[in-house]
Amino acid sequence: MPCQMMAASICIPRAVSAQPATTFPSWKSFRERRTDLQPGIPRSVHMENLQNEYLFPEIFMRESEHARKNPHAKVIKLGIGDTTEPIPNIITSAMVEKAHALSTVDGYTGYGLEQGNWELRKAIAERLYRNSGVKENEVFVSDGAQCDISRIQMLLASNSTVAVQDPTFPAYVDSSVIMGRAGRFQAETQKYRNIVYMKCVPENNFFPDLSSTPRADVIFFCSPNNPTGNAATRQQLKQLVDFAKENGSIIIYDSAYAAFISDESPRSIFEIPGAKEVAIEISSFSKFAGFTGVRLGWTVVPEQLLYSNGYPVIKDYNRLVCTSFNGASNIVQAGGLACLSDEGLKALRKTVNYYKENAKILVDTFESLGLKVYGGKNAPYVWVHFPGRDSWDVFNKILQRTDIVTVPGIGFGPGGEGFIRVSAFGRRDKILEASTRLRNFL
Ligand SMILES: Cc1ncc(COP(=O)(O)O)c(C=O)c1O
Repeated sequence: MPCQMMAASICIPRAVSAQPATTFPSWKSFRERRTDLQPGIPRSVHMENLQNEYLFPEIFMRESEHARKNPHAKVIKLGIGDTTEPIPNIITSAMVEKAHALSTVDGYTGYGLEQGNWELRKAIAERLYRNSGVKENEVFVSDGAQCDISRIQMLLASNSTVAVQDPTFPAYVDSSVIMGRAGRFQAETQKYRNIVYMKCVPENNFFPDLSSTPRADVIFFCSPNNPTGNAATRQQLKQLVDFAKENGSIIIYDSAYAAFISDESPRSIFEIPGAKEVAIEISSFSKFAGFTGVRLGWTVVPEQLLYSNGYPVIKDYNRLVCTSFNGASNIVQAGGLACLSDEGLKALRKTVNYYKENAKILVDTFESLGLKVYGGKNAPYVWVHFPGRDSWDVFNKILQRTDIVTVPGIGFGPGGEGFIRVSAFGRRDKILEASTRLRNFL
């Protein structure tokens, strides 16, 4: 009988239900009756929608298989973009000092601020955003850009639409799939139905034709780009900001490779006037400081960035960080601060230049083979064109003939077909050896 009709009786809320007249069968007996059931909970349909394995595990699997079949091969890994140069002593010393201080009563600290140490937030704002007026309270220190890419997904409305460069760093697409924003994968196009793929190829100077790009709520944009190694110009980024403003979109700008820029290209989206009203920037200590294993990154959420109802995004981001993240390691943050000291920046400049010299060796090598080569100038990635070829085939051929691991362009989206990405992270002797093998055997 409906509650309101039960005059003079108490309506018990459902959550505090009375003892049922008949008791439910125990889980065990339920299982015994339903022998058709598999153990566990149903798999997320969004996880099911992810295609293949994540790119790098797939490459690792092929590399391991190659090593198994060729036990004497001296494999050179120019695939995954992992740093190889040691971290300068001034930076590791700061971490050691902080670690030792934790053993003392005076030096011990427990939880820090979820958003990061003020000193580090201030150093990031002052040293890396000098020309763009980013304030320290807008900087949120994190355990790396990859984690922030996924965290940002939690910030967005569940029905938000997403645009990515094509080719693109896979985490933007995969985290969108996991959140259920991507729609079904379509085998014919190799694209997810609800994702807008903004083609970035040599024909358009690796910048999308915005006049024919459909509107999306969120635009992931990476510059200098992984995988193409291309850095967007000031003029192009201005176009992007204008496009976002016209469409009421938000740009999630990934500047993980900003330190590799050697020309006039902006190092931050916030160098573009008006960008603070439409963009969030994610960045990282991984590539310029060799922190891929140490783990430290940051996200800038400007105060001017508002939702359509006028609510500041920074407030939600702060709330999200407090809920889903308890702050970066205090030892690592001490290292981050040392990176941004005068001495730290000077030492890291040397490391970045070292990788850029590697990139130049690789560019020259592939060019000497008559191939068209992109990137390498403003990024540690070289993007080599094999027109009309299947990029997994090219990957396999290079691995088989030279024992060198690269990344097939298709792994970054359909726009990467016909290319391979070669990483310039590596010890010089390995890069030189790779150059010799490529010249001799490709
Ligand atoms: C464009 C881009 N963003 C983010 C990341 C991940 O950075 P982190 O090591 O800070 O998680 C990478 C790593 O390769 C990357 O290439």
